[in-house]
Amino acid sequence: MSESFDDLIAQAQQKFAQAPDLATLENEKAKFLGKKGAVTELMKGLAQLEPEQKRQRGQQINQVKKQIEECLNQRRHEFAQAELNQRLAAETIDVSLPGRGRGMGGIHPVMQSWQRIEEIFRSIGFAVADGPEIETDWFNFTALNNPLNHPARSMQDTFYTEMQDDDQLPLLLRTHTSPMQVRYAQQHTPPIKVIAPGRTYRVDSDATHSPMFHQVEGLWVAKDISFADLKGVYSLFLKAFFETDDLQIRFRPSFFPFTEPSAEIDMMFSTGPNKGRWLEISGSGQVHPTVIRNFGLDPEEYIGFAFGSGIERLTMLRYGVNDLRQFYEGDLRFLQQFNR
Ligand code: DAH
Repeated sequence: MSESFDDLIAQAQQKFAQAPDLATLENEKAKFLGKKGAVTELMKGLAQLEPEQKRQRGQQINQVKKQIEECLNQRRHEFAQAELNQRLAAETIDVSLPGRGRGMGGIHPVMQSWQRIEEIFRSIGFAVADGPEIETDWFNFTALNNPLNHPARSMQDTFYTEMQDDDQLPLLLRTHTSPMQVRYAQQHTPPIKVIAPGRTYRVDSDATHSPMFHQVEGLWVAKDISFADLKGVYSLFLKAFFETDDLQIRFRPSFFPFTEPSAEIDMMFSTGPNKGRWLEISGSGQVHPTVIRNFGLDPEEYIGFAFGSGIERLTMLRYGVNDLRQFYEGDLRFLQQFNR
């Protein structure tokens, strides 16, 4: 190959090597290999030559072109490699770093109690029912022998909606699960054994009252049961719930419009920090004849026993929590203690 050819190659190599970036390199390429580039010009010169010379010089020019292309591709490759290295450096992943970790969720303590209550009552043949939290005045009060203007209503102030029911009375947030006694009994034939756990509402807020809380209603309607059956079932429930037989239970006379006689259920702890103390757990009683009639049943034929217990209350006693509001503050330090 002639010297001028070698020069051309050396020149291209130098220009390519000096190009600081890909755009400049492509510009330089045009000067050698483009339409008006040096190699193209050489090709044009072939036209005047004799066939044999044309063949020889043509081969040489092709060689030159090939070498310049090689230089170009090598430089292109260098740029691609540099860019890749830069990206690799910028996007490094340190695989030795610890994972971010995903906290495991847990079941809220009140929900744990709810689940336990359902399990225990199912195991002794009770059905589990669910009902509306927005209730009519009739189901929440009147059907439970608690008519309009009855003073006992004032014990259960609640939240009223702007919607009205068929009696033109505002729909309200149920103050207890007791309306489920009527709803369930109207739709089932005795013997009835059911619990109805759920949310309830009252205008109350302090260490032992939350505006929203949970109750579990229990109802047993049959022809041949007595207060002893209620006491037996409820005692069994408490022993299972608190996981000890070492409990004493008493039924203390009380008043509810929907039961006669009525009792509050107290429990005495025989061990632990509450040893010797009676603690109120639940309302209960023999279903009032008026309520039995509202079930659509004859009170001369059927007898019913019922109870309504606060689920937060049971949870507080089980775990020794002394402020019910802690259940609803969402403080993980508190909640995590129930999910270990
Ligand atoms: N519903 C009552 C309350 O919230 C509790 C209650 C008392 C429920 C006696 C009953 C019952 O089923 O028989 O205070």
